[in-house]
Amino acid sequence: MNFPATRLRRLRRTPALRSLVRETHLHPGALLYPLFLCPGVGIRKEISSMPGVFNLSIDEAVKEAEACAALGLGGLLLFGLPAEKDDQATGAYAENGIVQQGLRALKSNRALDSLVLIADVCLCEYTSHGHCGIVSKDGDHYEIENDSSLELLSKTAVSLAAAGADIVAPSDMMDGRVEAIRTALDAVALADTPILSYASKFASAFYGPFREAADSAPQFGDRRSYQMDGANIREAMREIDLDVAEGADMVLMKPALPYLDVIRAARERFDVPLGAYQVSGEYSMLHAAFQRGWLEPDRAILESLTSIRRAGADFIVTYFAKVAAKLLA
Ligand code: PBG
Repeated sequence: MNFPATRLRRLRRTPALRSLVRETHLHPGALLYPLFLCPGVGIRKEISSMPGVFNLSIDEAVKEAEACAALGLGGLLLFGLPAEKDDQATGAYAENGIVQQGLRALKSNRALDSLVLIADVCLCEYTSHGHCGIVSKDGDHYEIENDSSLELLSKTAVSLAAAGADIVAPSDMMDGRVEAIRTALDAVALADTPILSYASKFASAFYGPFREAADSAPQFGDRRSYQMDGANIREAMREIDLDVAEGADMVLMKPALPYLDVIRAARERFDVPLGAYQVSGEYSMLHAAFQRGWLEPDRAILESLTSIRRAGADFIVTYFAKVAAKLLA
């Protein structure tokens, strides 16, 4: 039956009716907030391209985490800026690495028990060259080595899990890293630590501001030999398939807004918990428009997050997590 008997506007008339028939919901418990830990005390340094996001020393990070817990967020995704970098990414798996120290501080605070602490596993913040794996160089030619990088990534994951990470999240895009990390964790009685694999991670211009936040811009070349080509959705499905077969407990899709179709395709195909990362460039782009008064912040933030959930993500990593939680309260 068509118009005039059918009128879809009948259910849009009031806020109560719209609420009753709403298909997609956002809640703070499904939002994860990234934190960038840096050495020092009392440091709260704003990232110029990401208004409202900071490099935080551990004492400040604990305060930030308390605010996140009070807002009911699901958890934190931890990144580190080490005091020193080298070509073997030593800071990534050091017993007293910046994220390892941060994890111990956060874990010892009972007020933070409601937060899931996820440690990003990658080498790019810790290597002097800024690539996500070991680099071999021969004159002008360089390679990001796959297999030798797996060993360092596994060491990093074990070290972070031992320091208290509830979940480890490899974001490097080396082949075989999930299996290598699973095997390494199991070998040292960390069989209960889940792996959240950044299975579908595209080589994206939208990571630009993050590289300032995490001081991880590659010093030469780019990441296209390990991160995926943005044109490929079938390859993204193969990446997820392989990571799940290797033992990934959950997968992360990244970026989010420019890749909603990939999130949807993954949702239809895989039953593992699926997250999406609304990355730094997505945040900065919206903020730039807010600063000019071109977009209404509250509505644009919730609309962008709702669209990511509607595409099929169970949870979202977003720099808007705290603001969104306040709007949802
Ligand atoms: C580390 C990593 C990156 C991001 C998350 N983990 C940067 C990159 O791959 O260059 C990007 C997150 C963001 O842009 O917010 N490899």
